[in-house]
Amino acid sequence: MAYTIPITIVIFLNLILISKAARNLNPIGNQDESSLVSQVGICSLLIETQGYMCEEHKVTTKDGYILSLQHIPGGRDGTKADKPPVLLQHGVLMDGGTWVLNSRDESLGFILADGGFDVWIANTRGTNFSRGHTSLSPSDPAYWEWSWDELVAYDLPASIRFVHDQTGQNLHYIGHSLGTLIAFSAFSKDQTLNMLRSAVLLSPIAYLGQMSSTLARAGADAFLGETMYWLGVHEFAPRGEAVAGLLSVICMNPGSDCSDLMTSFTGPNCCVDSSMTDRFLEHEPQSTSTKNMIHLAQMIRTGTITMYDYGNANDNERHYGQATPPVYDMGSIPKDFPMYLSYGGADELSDVQDVKTLLESVKDHDQDKLVVQYKEDYAHADFVFAVNAKEVVYDPVMTFFNMH
Ligand SMILES: *[C@@H]1O[C@H](CO)[C@@H](O)[C@H](O)[C@H]1NC(C)=O
Repeated sequence: MAYTIPITIVIFLNLILISKAARNLNPIGNQDESSLVSQVGICSLLIETQGYMCEEHKVTTKDGYILSLQHIPGGRDGTKADKPPVLLQHGVLMDGGTWVLNSRDESLGFILADGGFDVWIANTRGTNFSRGHTSLSPSDPAYWEWSWDELVAYDLPASIRFVHDQTGQNLHYIGHSLGTLIAFSAFSKDQTLNMLRSAVLLSPIAYLGQMSSTLARAGADAFLGETMYWLGVHEFAPRGEAVAGLLSVICMNPGSDCSDLMTSFTGPNCCVDSSMTDRFLEHEPQSTSTKNMIHLAQMIRTGTITMYDYGNANDNERHYGQATPPVYDMGSIPKDFPMYLSYGGADELSDVQDVKTLLESVKDHDQDKLVVQYKEDYAHADFVFAVNAKEVVYDPVMTFFNMH
């Protein structure tokens, strides 16, 4: 694309100026992070304020990351859950707040709790309330040395196992966006399935080759993540200076309308209330690793779903024992595992063509174990924030759970 080269140069200069400052910048303030977590959390900020009981939990992954989970053990009227546990897994640049940002009658976390389900909310490493580690600090570059491969290998199994062990039951899983990518990848290797009853995949992502979001594609084509990484910015902090600088440059590109960032990134959401924007900006977006953004950009450029590509045969050989990164084979997802996929015609991150590629690769799935829902006017954020998502998606999802 014609604008790629000049944009890369401008960004490069821009980044040199800001990367040094950004590296030393703690995007969420200078307080001691670990001591605050016990007092302030998603429970106290977003759940108890709506009249629900809520418990904060911690789980440590096999590679040392300390993740927070919230547990809503019952409905707003104080009744205890009498249905199986459900684990909610947010997408990239988001955290568990995703599920409880709307009103009680619109947020999936509350709707499930009021529907009798035992609700558990996961928070990926690097997000505001999952920044602990047994030996590393988020200011260490090594803390950020991971992509979604590590979420598949460590975070996802740790959170699922934790809920399984706490409740003594197999659980239902609900993922949005990256929360579907890591699930599909784990399922394709037959991981975690022995602890799950079923999975609901909202804005399903396995392939990104047709992705139409101009912002995300411009970033991938210009190798922005790689440039940031090379300059030593290992935390991709959307509230930090480095990303703000990047956005201001991408937004100079005539193809990117940045007057409404959520729309230019996710697509035109039909049904997200405008009052959501303020609540959204108060709690999201959240940090991820620059390496994770590079991995996603690789998927956008190649259209494949593989492990992180180290960029040359030698380094791949060293990590994987082969010259190219191993493929996650979507066709290997066990055919009898109950799945509910819901995708939208206006979603620019989970593009319709990419979802069709995914559906093609699971076409031999047992027909009575696969529900596919298409909502023509839904874009990426509608699946978690739409005012009508209860009728459109969540009620059918609960019916699906009751059958499995
Ligand atoms: C991040 O966590 C701190 C407490 O550690 C809290 O005060 C703040 O509101 C949180 N910010 C976001 C964006 O969640």
